[in-house]
Amino acid sequence: MTNIGILAGSLRKTAYSRKVADVLANLLPVQLTPTFIEIDQLPLYNADLDDEHSVPAWEKFRQQLDQVTGLIIVTPEYNRGMSGALKNAFDVGSKRHNHWKEKTALVVSSSPEATGGFGANQQVRQVLVTLNVIPVQRPEVYLGHVNHLFNDQNLITNLDTISFLQTAVNAFVDLQAKFIAAPVERVDLPIMKYQPGRFYTNGDEGDVLAEIIFSDRQNKRIMVTETRVTEALRGQGIAKQLMMRVIRFAQIYNLIIIPDCTYAQHFAESHPEYQHLFTSAE
Ligand SMILES: Cc1cc2nc3c(=O)[nH]c(=O)nc-3n(C[C@H](O)[C@H](O)[C@H](O)COP(=O)(O)O)c2cc1C
Repeated sequence: MTNIGILAGSLRKTAYSRKVADVLANLLPVQLTPTFIEIDQLPLYNADLDDEHSVPAWEKFRQQLDQVTGLIIVTPEYNRGMSGALKNAFDVGSKRHNHWKEKTALVVSSSPEATGGFGANQQVRQVLVTLNVIPVQRPEVYLGHVNHLFNDQNLITNLDTISFLQTAVNAFVDLQAKFIAAPVERVDLPIMKYQPGRFYTNGDEGDVLAEIIFSDRQNKRIMVTETRVTEALRGQGIAKQLMMRVIRFAQIYNLIIIPDCTYAQHFAESHPEYQHLFTSAE
């Protein structure tokens, strides 16, 4: 399993950077598992305290970094730079040896201002050079007017924005496959896309080859109403891949799934490990 560390540079509970981080985690293919790494419990770095009896929160953070091969870093912009919390996390993870090194990274900045946190984004990239982290060069992602991007369920609904972010995540997945020793298995698997209420894959002509549809229900529940795979793609585990995307969506957004279509019901029955995510009642 390939784990990707997801870091948001803001400590605010309702931070836009956290919401953006959730969106990006949802756009990862199922072969990459997002692991959210919190930076809010890290005391300010002080080399005097950093010996073999080091600060437990620092050690925990370093261990979390050791367990991921790639990073998605979302930074807010504070006074044209990254937040102090994020810089502190970089410093903590860089000692006593560099726990960041040789990972790949996608750097995304966001801001309510039109400039989209350009200054913070560049500053993060500058630090990544010395940490020996390989960032996606392009597309550069500066999300401006981030305060207008989310609906009341913390989802982005603008399809162009989703598509742009998917392009950035795909570039990250490709970089990961190129540079990391255990490359992502993408062979023969179609690339899945996301739209609100739907994961799908389409052919060159835009024709839908496989899709799973889920609709929003009240009380943090979603109902899977359809899973469809065209004849030509059957027998390759595509339906399971689609269902796993919905499972991960539910995990990220803390939702319960109502399996309404036959496939979803079958999946729920045959995967007791995800039982806690399913309910039969509407
Ligand atoms: C100390 C401070 C400095 C800020 N400086 C900038 C800035 O330089 N550029 C900018 O676009 N926004 C700036 N802002 C506004 C932030 O972009 C805004 O508060 C944003 O919501 C913070 O990110 P978050 O939602 O992820 O917490 C600043 C906010 C604070 C608290």
